[in-house]
Amino acid sequence: MASLSARDERARESFDSAERIGRFSRRNMLRWLIGLSTGAFAVAFGIPAFALKTLQVVVQEIKSGDEFVYATAASGNASGDPVKAGDLEVGASVQAFPRGKTDNQRNLVQIVRVGPGQGKEGLVAYSAICTHLGCVVYAALNTNGQIACPCHASRFDPAKGANVVGGPAPRPLPSLPIDVKADGTITAAGPLDGPIGVA
Ligand code: FES
Repeated sequence: MASLSARDERARESFDSAERIGRFSRRNMLRWLIGLSTGAFAVAFGIPAFALKTLQVVVQEIKSGDEFVYATAASGNASGDPVKAGDLEVGASVQAFPRGKTDNQRNLVQIVRVGPGQGKEGLVAYSAICTHLGCVVYAALNTNGQIACPCHASRFDPAKGANVVGGPAPRPLPSLPIDVKADGTITAAGPLDGPIGVA
């Protein structure tokens, strides 16, 4: 085979060099594109996932041991003050939240002193959310000693498990077991015995 001229040799070296540079550039471009796609994927899925996590709201429910505090100022007590057993005479009723869980309106409970021999030291507690369409019941009992709903006039008997005694509510208010501590504060002794509001 005839030997290459010096000019042909230079041309071939130049061609080889250009090809090496081209291969190198293509590799770099490919790496760059992969990096770019990975970054775009992370942005597309990472940011919404982070935002979703940030927006997640922890719903705080009533748990055994929760101490009850006044939902609103009543009988000389400010909102947030602990409800004491001695605050309630027979036939009296207050609305209360578990301390630290007032953001969840569905935690509102009605504590009623029904009389000796019933409940815990004469006290019973129920969800204050009506089982008809979820309105908050009146804080005070009606003249018949019943828990009443302002929306469609459902009425519940606190001395008989908050059974429905009038109106469209389909079931009793869920009942909450309670405890009375030595200092008179009232705490939850378990969860509500049924779903809150509209089931
Ligand atoms: Fe209470 Fe309708 S929501 S009676």
